[in-house]
Amino acid sequence: MNIAIVGTGYVGLVSGTCFAEMGVNVTCVDVDKHKIDNLNKGIIPIYEPGLEDMVQRNIKAERLHFTTNLTEVLNDVQVIFSAVGTPPDADGSADLKVCA
Ligand SMILES: NC(=O)c1ccc[n+]([C@@H]2O[C@H](COP(=O)([O-])OP(=O)(O)OC[C@H]3O[C@@H](n4cnc5c(N)ncnc54)[C@H](O)[C@@H]3O)[C@@H](O)[C@H]2O)c1
Repeated sequence: MNIAIVGTGYVGLVSGTCFAEMGVNVTCVDVDKHKIDNLNKGIIPIYEPGLEDMVQRNIKAERLHFTTNLTEVLNDVQVIFSAVGTPPDADGSADLKVCA
C-alpha cells in the first residue's frame, strides 16, 4: 500500500515513519524545503528517541520518501493523511485554510 502524509512535523513524521516500519510505502510531504532536504539525508528536525534510526532504516529500505511536491505522488497513493498545522482563529476555532 502507498500512502502520503501532508505535513512532516511531530505528527506527520512520527506517523509516517511508523507506517513505513510496518511495511507501508510512505511519502511525507512538506512545504519546508530545508526540512525535506535534511530528512532526505536522514536528519530529523525534532527530538524523539529512536526516531532518527527508524527514519534512516526505512529510507534505506525505500519505504520512506520525502518531497515538497504533493502532485508527483497523487496518482500513486491510496490514502492521504493531513497533518499540517491548524492554528486557532481569533474566536478559538481551528484555522483550516492551510488544509484547503
Ligand atoms: N503534536 C501533537 O501532539 C498534536 C496532538 C494532537 C493534534 N495535533 C494536530 O496535528 C496537526 C499537526 O501537528 P504537529 O504538531 O505535527 O505540527 P507541526 O507544526 O510540527 O508540523 C506541521 C507541518 O506541516 C507543514 N505544512 C504546513 N502547511 C503545509 C502545506 N500546505 N503542505 C505541506 N506541509 C505543510 C509545516 O511546514 C510543518 O512541518 C495540527 O493540526 C495539530 O493541531 C498535534
